[in-house]
Amino acid sequence: MRALVALLLPLSLLAAQEGRRQDEPEVDFQKDVAPILVARCIECHGPEEQEGDLRLDAREFVFPEGEEDYWTVFPNEPEDSELLRRIGLGLDDDDVMPAKGEPLTKSQQALIERWIRQGAAWPQAADEWIAAELAAQVLPKITFELPDVDGAGAAAIAAAVKKLAGLGVVVQRVAADTEALEVNLSLLRDKVGDDELALLRPLAPVLVWLNASRTAITDAGARHLAALTQLRRLNVANTELSDRGFRALAGLARLEYLNAYGTSLGDEGLARLAELPRLAKVYAWQSKVTAAGVAALKDDLTKVQVDRGDYVAARLAAARAEIAARERRNQPINDKCPVSGKDVDPAHFVVHEGRRVAFCCSKCKARFEADPGKFVARLPKAGGQAKAKAK
Ligand code: HEC
Repeated sequence: MRALVALLLPLSLLAAQEGRRQDEPEVDFQKDVAPILVARCIECHGPEEQEGDLRLDAREFVFPEGEEDYWTVFPNEPEDSELLRRIGLGLDDDDVMPAKGEPLTKSQQALIERWIRQGAAWPQAADEWIAAELAAQVLPKITFELPDVDGAGAAAIAAAVKKLAGLGVVVQRVAADTEALEVNLSLLRDKVGDDELALLRPLAPVLVWLNASRTAITDAGARHLAALTQLRRLNVANTELSDRGFRALAGLARLEYLNAYGTSLGDEGLARLAELPRLAKVYAWQSKVTAAGVAALKDDLTKVQVDRGDYVAARLAAARAEIAARERRNQPINDKCPVSGKDVDPAHFVVHEGRRVAFCCSKCKARFEADPGKFVARLPKAGGQAKAKAK
């Protein structure tokens, strides 16, 4: 007995030094804590809102260098961490967080306490995971009420799809149970100009998502976009479109999402777009939109969220494009083994739900095949909504 105590003692001392209590498992930030932040905090402390000047969606915001005095989490020091104090308050306290809804459960609070006590590790991969989760929330639900298409219309659609496919344009259904189509012109880059946009017109009754980013379309071609009245998502990033072209989109009554990254969209064009009844999100980084232009919209109480350079969004767009491209090329969608977390060896792979997933070794591959459900959360999400190299 005494020998056992002697043996255990140094171990427990070690654990205490790390802030870890004996027999206490180490908290996995991404798995245990980040989901709580995403579900309960980031809506008010994230890319969209920074209540109390606090952002909780990436490491650099929670632990800003040079501003240590203002951190709300002090690694290893739960008793001094404002964040922990806030979540532990009673519902009747004005300071309690989250500021709406039920308080966090006791076990959620305990997890966060342990995470802080054990050093508040926040790995880079967790930033990417959070960004991917937020992106998934941004995507609109796939329910479309499309107009009826008669026989002639259907024939015209089929002919147009064939023509586009001949040019190398990717046309596909948005989901298995819908007629709605998605067209991606961006792979053809400057081979697509205003004339090619005209080919999309017969697709108008069913075309809901269009990616025309990086193409050579101009303001003169915007009238063809204006004819695509079922569009929900439009990506014209890195094109020459300016306010003149964006003004032409005033009839896209169903548009929910517009990516105008790297275009010449300005405050005036933005104000016009904000009048679109369904528009919820405009990405306008590296455009001519100014902070004042965005503020003016806020004064008008529009519901449109304008993103002028948010790093999460920028990374996500890049990551999504990367994953989508890998899916199309049938390349492994992941760089890290979902089982071990190590770099993958592309020779070890399986096709899981139509996508190629790579592993570091055959052992991990076998473990994945035995129970994929255990590891899928570590894979980038379908449609390329998830982590990948940002550049
Ligand atoms: C509905 C919006 C909302 C939600 C959700 C929310 N907060 Fe807050 N939070 C606020 C507001 C508003 C403030 C600023 C006023 C204040 O300090 O109480 C704030 C302030 C804070 C502060 C103080 C910041 C500082 O520097 O003093 C912390 C810490 C905090 N929140 C943590 C959280 C955590 C953790 C969650 C999730 C468990 C959360 N909040 C969820 C609205 C929210």
